[in-house]
Amino acid sequence: METCGLLLVLVLCREVFCQSHYCRSKFGVYEVADYNIHACAWCYFFLFPERDYKPNPLTHTLEIQTNGSRVYPDINNKSATGEICATLSSDECDKWRLCCLASRDCCTRQLMSSAVDDNTSCPTTWDGYGCWDAGEPGTTSYISCPNFLQYSVPTRSALKTCNADGKWLTKGPLSLEWTDYTPCLSYEELKVSIYISVGCQIASLLCLLPSVVIFLMYK
Ligand SMILES: *[C@@H]1O[C@H](CO)[C@@H](O)[C@H](O)[C@H]1NC(C)=O
Ligand SMILES: *[C@@H]1O[C@H](CO)[C@@H](O)[C@H](O)[C@H]1NC(C)=O
Ligand SMILES: *[C@@H]1O[C@H](CO)[C@@H](O)[C@H](O)[C@H]1NC(C)=O
Repeated sequence: METCGLLLVLVLCREVFCQSHYCRSKFGVYEVADYNIHACAWCYFFLFPERDYKPNPLTHTLEIQTNGSRVYPDINNKSATGEICATLSSDECDKWRLCCLASRDCCTRQLMSSAVDDNTSCPTTWDGYGCWDAGEPGTTSYISCPNFLQYSVPTRSALKTCNADGKWLTKGPLSLEWTDYTPCLSYEELKVSIYISVGCQIASLLCLLPSVVIFLMYK
């Protein structure tokens, strides 16, 4: 009888404290601690796909493939964020942090939401840039464009489509859930930045020309 009561208390405690401490991203459902690290690793990749670190989907670490150096992307760990931000400019580091913080807020929002995942509506989720509440089947949801996205115009909206079957619209070879962020991009700014980089490359080619001529003449 005694042990039974104790067991009941334990089970009740577990229900109260451990229930639904899971958050959802486009890659799946994870325990909060794993979700935080995982989302933050993907923030780095989605914002800066060309940089040194790449996320490892199994260990939730960020890794540099060329020398095997790995780091656990915990934004509360100063030495870890220091290592990660060493590969970014300070402006980029701020953007990455904002994305990680937004992913954490999204998890909190998911845990507080009372919507039950009954398979009839699209589940509340973090898509890598933004947080989505549960979607009605056959409708489109909107959120403000994230301010940490490069060339993003925060006054515009990203959109996500909930299919009639209660699943988010998917795209690509892996059929991952897909959000339309194209309305967020300011093509003017993007164009200017491309012109500037092409201009710089032409300028550096022109600067190189005399040295090539000199090299050919005097070799
Ligand atoms: C790996 O390379 C990065 C720079 O790309 C460097 O900061 C880091 O110290 C290196 N790690 C090891 C273990 O060599
Ligand atoms: C913080 O990150 C560093 C470098 O990744 C790691 O060695 C250390 O164990 C971490 N500290 C904590 C408290 O997790
Ligand atoms: C929802 O769907 C999943 C698989 O698609 C199934 O395992 C689960 O039992 C369903 N839940 C409900 C409440 O229908």
